[in-house]
Amino acid sequence: MSLPLQVGLVGWRGMVGSVLMQRMSAERDFDAIETTFFSTSSAGIAAPKIDGCTVFNPILKDGNDLTALKAMDVIITCQGGDYTKAVYAPLRAAGWNGHWIDASKILRMQDDSIIILDPINMPVIQTALSKGVKDWIGGNCTVSCMLMGVGALFKAGLVEWMQTSTYQAASGGGAPNMRELLTQYGSLYAEVKDLLDDPASAILEIDRKVTAKQRGFTPQETQHFRGVPLGGNLIPWIDSDRGDGVSLEEWKGGAETNKIMGWGKQFGHAEVPIDSTCVRVGSMRCHSQSLTFKLKKDVPLADIEAMIANDNEWVKFVPNEREATEKNLTAMNVAGTMDIPVGRVRKLAMGPQYLGAFTIGDQLLWGAAEPLRRMLRIIQAR
Ligand code: HSE
Repeated sequence: MSLPLQVGLVGWRGMVGSVLMQRMSAERDFDAIETTFFSTSSAGIAAPKIDGCTVFNPILKDGNDLTALKAMDVIITCQGGDYTKAVYAPLRAAGWNGHWIDASKILRMQDDSIIILDPINMPVIQTALSKGVKDWIGGNCTVSCMLMGVGALFKAGLVEWMQTSTYQAASGGGAPNMRELLTQYGSLYAEVKDLLDDPASAILEIDRKVTAKQRGFTPQETQHFRGVPLGGNLIPWIDSDRGDGVSLEEWKGGAETNKIMGWGKQFGHAEVPIDSTCVRVGSMRCHSQSLTFKLKKDVPLADIEAMIANDNEWVKFVPNEREATEKNLTAMNVAGTMDIPVGRVRKLAMGPQYLGAFTIGDQLLWGAAEPLRRMLRIIQAR
């Protein structure tokens, strides 16, 4: 039997890192590895107590200490892009040849990295492993959640193109953004509480006061969404402006979906065109998407439904009916679960090759933490 892998964890305290720790505990991932916790700010103090994890190193190591990092077979980082930028290249330059599993986007589109989402692209991962690839990068949350839902159509080569309109949760911006959203909701409520308590009050007066309050939020109250209130509002731009009319989040929809599928120049395979309009809405941690497909041929709806429903164990197919949709196809329902409901599946008026669907995923679980821990398992199983 081979020795347990030495696994270094960096960024385990943040939001994605904490979800990763919960998942690793729940799946008993710590049982078969020797874990070292790293920190960029508090090296030298006691390592955290994580359920099910007997630490190999009882003291937090310095996340910038290349010698300590080099002792790891696998490093999993949720520390963010700045850490990857600072540490990855020097570590490789120092001769480290271990597996780098990263939640940040920095290395995602490098030719020698693979975007990991194994229920969808296990063949791509296995081929890369056999070629000696060592950089495994978690995908953009929106893309990963979408593919977990409707990956079957891509796997079957049925998609001529796809367009998605997203409804992305505050958590995608980070923990402070979630707090900001809730604080704004609270302020808006407080502004009109007296009027709400009075059944005779006029709704247009309530609405006027809410709008005035939103417009009057201070820079401090709206700092995490770049000065724009999200509470009772929506923001149809996510991530940076590429200057070509497409936000970075929208660009990722096409670039990353194709890379996950093993399509594009890197793989010598034609890409499927994907367009996105990415919108931030006031939900907490689940990204939802309304999808439009043009399929390469007219496939009976029942066959499409069966393909989607049977693609992986996390898809929960929701019949395209009012009750089932209201009950099962909401962001609140999915929060904190591994479920990926897919519903509103129907042929569109545009013609029999056009398909509509709606899907939701927890952007911290399938959208961020889960593919990372599963990649560790895949490396272990080799
Ligand atoms: N970019 C995503 C968002 C989160 O802002 O919702 C990370 O993939």
